[in-house]
Amino acid sequence: MGDITVDTVDDPTIEQDDDVIIGITSTAICGSDLHIYDGFIPQLNDLVLGHEFMGVVEDVGPGVTRLKKGDRVVVPFTIACGSCFFCSQGFHPNCLHTNPEKYGPRGNLLDNKGGGMFGYTDLYGGYNGGQAQYVRVPNANIGPKIIPDGLSDDQVLFLTDIFPTGWSAVKWGKVKPGDSVVIFGSGPVGLMAQKAAWLHGAERVIAVDPLEYRLEKARTVNKVDTINSEDDDLMEKIYSMTKGRGADVAIDAVGMEANRTFLEKAKAVINAEKGTAKVLELCAEAVRRSGTIAVVGVYGSPYDNFPIHRIFDKGLIMQFGQAQTHVYIDQCFEMVRSGKVVLDDIITHRLPLSKASDAYDMFKNKKDDCVKVVLKPGLD
Ligand SMILES: NC(=O)c1ccc[n+]([C@@H]2O[C@H](COP(=O)([O-])OP(=O)(O)OC[C@H]3O[C@@H](n4cnc5c(N)ncnc54)[C@H](O)[C@@H]3O)[C@@H](O)[C@H]2O)c1
Ligand SMILES: [Zn+2]
Ligand SMILES: [Zn+2]
Repeated sequence: MGDITVDTVDDPTIEQDDDVIIGITSTAICGSDLHIYDGFIPQLNDLVLGHEFMGVVEDVGPGVTRLKKGDRVVVPFTIACGSCFFCSQGFHPNCLHTNPEKYGPRGNLLDNKGGGMFGYTDLYGGYNGGQAQYVRVPNANIGPKIIPDGLSDDQVLFLTDIFPTGWSAVKWGKVKPGDSVVIFGSGPVGLMAQKAAWLHGAERVIAVDPLEYRLEKARTVNKVDTINSEDDDLMEKIYSMTKGRGADVAIDAVGMEANRTFLEKAKAVINAEKGTAKVLELCAEAVRRSGTIAVVGVYGSPYDNFPIHRIFDKGLIMQFGQAQTHVYIDQCFEMVRSGKVVLDDIITHRLPLSKASDAYDMFKNKKDDCVKVVLKPGLD
């Protein structure tokens, strides 16, 4: 926890027939990495972090049919077999086969988790991640997307996670032309959800965040309306922008590490909660009756006094979880290739991999108006 260092580790090698080794050209730090950094998702053993990465195939196992040495690929952050009960229905984050040690049906705090993810703790398979020079990608016949040379790393890197995550949120929210969409969190994931909402024909997109510089970014790159989450009239403002009803769709792109008051922190200690479900509560209030809430912000704890009454009274529809990157990466890629969307306008910092420790500090503590950091081993 709180201990990110840049170390020399053994280079990964092919372990299974369908593995590939990728030489990383670009890798990003995600809000999800901060949950490990902050100790909200525990990791005791050393692990190479990073689940947002792309690069060039350097070595292929004998069972790899889809890729060859030299291919340039973006890799989805969830590791999936592609053919089990869950994968075959598009629920790759729940893959039955990629987290043998800790997988299970219950969804407990420290076991019975979902499928494997790169660089995402021993709870999710203990796979080394891509904030490195090289990474081993298992199940390489499923997932990695070949990228043509005409597109730069920065243009396509976010296909690994955050753009399909914003896209998943909009799909789960069932956003349709004419809808109003309120998006809590204007970090990288919120910004991607804003883009995806426009691409699905939303009429009004409202971004909510406590940080003015992030709202400014949202206005500049995505032309959305913005409201500061600390505004005393937050709900009234949302209702007044949405015909008095509330938004058709509310998206939680914050998760359990939302800003909290001292009292809220004290309550969490008493109730043994990690972080808060405050933003999910705000979503339930901001969405209209019979509306839909999509939750991509990560939660890793139960929460007392959760306002389930509001969800029942308003007849809300909700969907949560890790994004369906494997399902949506092709659609998302097509948006980029055809020029319908630009993703790299959210990048504020490009740094050598050796500066990873500083980069985490900057992203976590919102220094230097940081929105999204891309680490490039090639700059070292
Ligand atoms: N479900 C998935 O597949 C998936 C994929 C990627 C990221 N995530 C999760 O999405 C969340 C956001 O990730 P990110 O990279 O954008 O992280 P981030 O930490 O940069 O962004 C979170 C934003 O929420 C804002 N915020 C804090 N309190 C708020 C409040 N009360 N109301 C509105 N906004 C508030 C912060 O100021 C910040 O701008 C994280 O929980 C991350 O783990 C989930
Ligand atoms: Zn991520
Ligand atoms: Zn599977």
